[in-house]
Amino acid sequence: MITVSALPKDPASVTPIEAADLLSQLAEAIAYHNERYHGQDAPEISDQDFDKLMAFNLALEEAFPHLVKIASAPSQKVGTSPNAAFGKVTHEVPMLSLANAFNDQDVYDFIERIKRFLSLDEAEEIILTAEPKIDGLSLALRYEKGVLVSAATRGDGTVGEDVTANILVTDNVPKKLIGDAPDLLEVRGEVYMDKADFLALNEAQGAKGAKIFANPRNAAAGSLRQKDARITKSRPLKFFAYSAGVYKGIAWHKHSDFLDDLRAFGFSVNEMTQSCANAKELIAHYKMIGEARATLPYDIDGVVYKVDRHDYQTRLGQVSRAPRWAIAHKFPAEKATTIVEAIDIQVGRTGALTPVARLAPVNVGGVIVSNATLHNEDEIKRKDIRIGDTVILQRAGDVIPQIVEVITAQRPDTASAFDFPHLCPICHSPAIRPDGEAVRRCSASLSCPAQFVEQMKHFVSRNAFDIEGLGAKQIEQFFALGWLNAPADVFALTKRFDDIAGLDRMGEKSARNLITAIEERRDIALERVIFGLGIRQVGQATAKLLAQHYESLPALMAAAHDAIDPDSPAYESLITIDQIGAAMADDIIAFFKDVANAKAVSDLLAEIRPITPEKPSADSPVTGKIIVFTGTLATQSRSEAKAVAERLGAKVSGSVSAKTDYVIAGADAGSKAKKAEALGVTILTEDEWQALITA
Ligand code: IVH
Repeated sequence: MITVSALPKDPASVTPIEAADLLSQLAEAIAYHNERYHGQDAPEISDQDFDKLMAFNLALEEAFPHLVKIASAPSQKVGTSPNAAFGKVTHEVPMLSLANAFNDQDVYDFIERIKRFLSLDEAEEIILTAEPKIDGLSLALRYEKGVLVSAATRGDGTVGEDVTANILVTDNVPKKLIGDAPDLLEVRGEVYMDKADFLALNEAQGAKGAKIFANPRNAAAGSLRQKDARITKSRPLKFFAYSAGVYKGIAWHKHSDFLDDLRAFGFSVNEMTQSCANAKELIAHYKMIGEARATLPYDIDGVVYKVDRHDYQTRLGQVSRAPRWAIAHKFPAEKATTIVEAIDIQVGRTGALTPVARLAPVNVGGVIVSNATLHNEDEIKRKDIRIGDTVILQRAGDVIPQIVEVITAQRPDTASAFDFPHLCPICHSPAIRPDGEAVRRCSASLSCPAQFVEQMKHFVSRNAFDIEGLGAKQIEQFFALGWLNAPADVFALTKRFDDIAGLDRMGEKSARNLITAIEERRDIALERVIFGLGIRQVGQATAKLLAQHYESLPALMAAAHDAIDPDSPAYESLITIDQIGAAMADDIIAFFKDVANAKAVSDLLAEIRPITPEKPSADSPVTGKIIVFTGTLATQSRSEAKAVAERLGAKVSGSVSAKTDYVIAGADAGSKAKKAEALGVTILTEDEWQALITA
C-alpha cells in the first residue's frame, strides 16, 4: 500500500499516466486507513501522515480533474460506512469534514478566498470564531421538544450509527435541554476522553489483559461504540458541543450566539472559543491555544476557524464535502526520532511482564523522553522493534510516549530482535501467557520479590491503608532490609523504632511520625483492607460492595472458599452481588484459595481491627433517592453531609439531571440550583433537608 514516503515530492511534476496510477493507489490507501481509524478505532498511521495522503490526493484531483472517478474519490467521502452491529441513522443534514490549514499562509489564503467568494472589499473585516479542534469523534444529538431522542455517529457523513442507548447512560450529554426548547434541534459536537481518564482506563485494561487504546480518541470511540451500554457507562466520556444539524422553531444570526444558546441549554462549550476579526488574530489565538495544549486535560489537534455570520455561511456553502466557511488549522505532530538502547521487563503487582523501551533521551514537544512502554510481546512483534533500531516517537495525545514506527532503512546490522522472556526476570519462575490473553505473567505470586514490593506499595497507597511517610522508596528500602515480608509486617514496623530512627535521612522525629501513622491505621474501614489486598480486578468500588455484603474478612474468606464449587449457594450469592460477574468472582475465589494469601490475610487480621460499613437503613425517607448537594452548608462539611446521606441509603450525585430527586442548596448555590429549577427538581434548604432525614 502506498505510503507518504513513496509519494513524489511535487504533485505538479507528475505525468497524467503516473497520476492515474497514483490516484487509484491513494484511493485504496485512504479508504483502508479510514476504515482502520473510523471503523476499527485502530489506526496504523499517524494523523499527520493521513493528512499528507489526503492533501496529495486533493492536489492530484485538482491538477487532473478528468481522472477523478467521482464514486470512489477520497475527496467525496467522509469517514467510513457504519458498522452493521449498530442501527443506522440518516443525517438530514450531512455531517461534513473540514479542510485543513497547515501553516499561516493557508490561513491568509482561506480568508482571502472567503472575501473573494462573498465579493467583500479587501479592507472589510470578517468575523470568525476560533475554537479548539477536539480530538475525539463527532456525534449528532437530536432533541425533540427539548428531549434527547437519538444520538448518532458520523459514519460516512450521510448515514451514521445509532448510539442512542450508549449516550443515554453517559453523564456529560444533556438528556433534556434547560429552558425554552425549540421543537427540533440537532446539536453536534465531539465525544472525547480526558487524558488522565484514558491513562487510568489503559492501566485497568492492561491489568485485565484487555485491549490497550493507542490514544484518548481511540479510547473514546471504542468506549462509545459498544454493543453493551453498561461498558459505555463505566467509561468516562465527555462531550463538547460546537455545531448544529437540523433545527425548527429557533434560528441564529451568528455562530457565536448559537454557542451561547448551547451553553444555556446545558451543553459544555469550549471556553477557549474566541471571535477574531482577521487572519492575524486567528493565528495569535492559534498560538495561544498551542501553548496551552500540553496542559489541557484533553487532546486537541488544531484550531477550527468558522465564519461567524450564518447568512455568510449559507452563501459560502460547501465544496468536496467540507464547508467553505470553516477550516481546521492543524498543530504539527509532536514527534522525534531516537534509538532503542535496550528493552527491559517490568514486573507489576499482578505479575504482568511489561516490556519498556529504554531510549536515547530526546525532546518530544517540550518533554524529555527516555522510556516508552511497549505494552506486551505482540506489540513488539507487530511493530518489529529491535534493540539498536532508530524509531519515530510520538507523544500520544501529549501524554505517554509511544513508538510509532521503526525506520527500517536505518536499521544497523547489529540490531537484535528481543526475545521475550518465559521466565520472570526477577524471581526466575515461569512466566505464563494463558491462551487468548495478551499478557504474560510471573507465576510466583507474592513469593516473587517484584510482585511483593509492588503489592506492598499498593497496600499502603492512598485509597488503601493510606500510611503517611510510607511511600514507594521506604517500601523498597524496608524490603531490602528484610523488615517487610508480608502485609502484617507493616504493623510490626511499630516495634522497630531504633532501627528506623537509625536509617539515613530518617531520625527520631520521622521514625516516631511513621510509627504513629501506622498505629492510626489499625482501626480501618473494611473496604480499604479489601482494596489493599490487591485482588485482581477488585477496585475500590468492588471492595466496597464486598465489604457491605460480607461485613467481615473472615466471612468473605469463608464465602470465597465455599464458592470454589460453582454449584454452591456461596458462588450464586457472590455473583449476584450487583456488578460482580463470573470473571471477577473467579479472581476473588482464586485469591483466597491460595494458601499463602490466606495466611497473609489471617496474620494481618491479628494486627488490625477492620470497621464494618454501616448498613444503609432500608426504610429512611431518602432510601434510593438521588440527591445533589450544592453551595456551602452551614452545619456540616460537604463530605460529612454526603456520608450521612449515603448511610441513609441515598445516592449522592455531583450533577443535576432529570433523575435527581432532591437538590440541597446551601449558601451561594449557583448553576446546579438553577438547573434543578429548570428541570423541576425539588430544591430543599439545609433545614428542610435536616427535617426530612430526622422525620
Ligand atoms: S465543526 C461543518 N468544530 O473535526 C463543520 N469540528 O476534521 C463541522 N472537530 O468532523 C465540524 N472539534 O469531528 C468542528 N470545534 C470543532 C471541532 C470539530 C473537533 C472534528 C469533527 C469534524 C472533524 C473534521
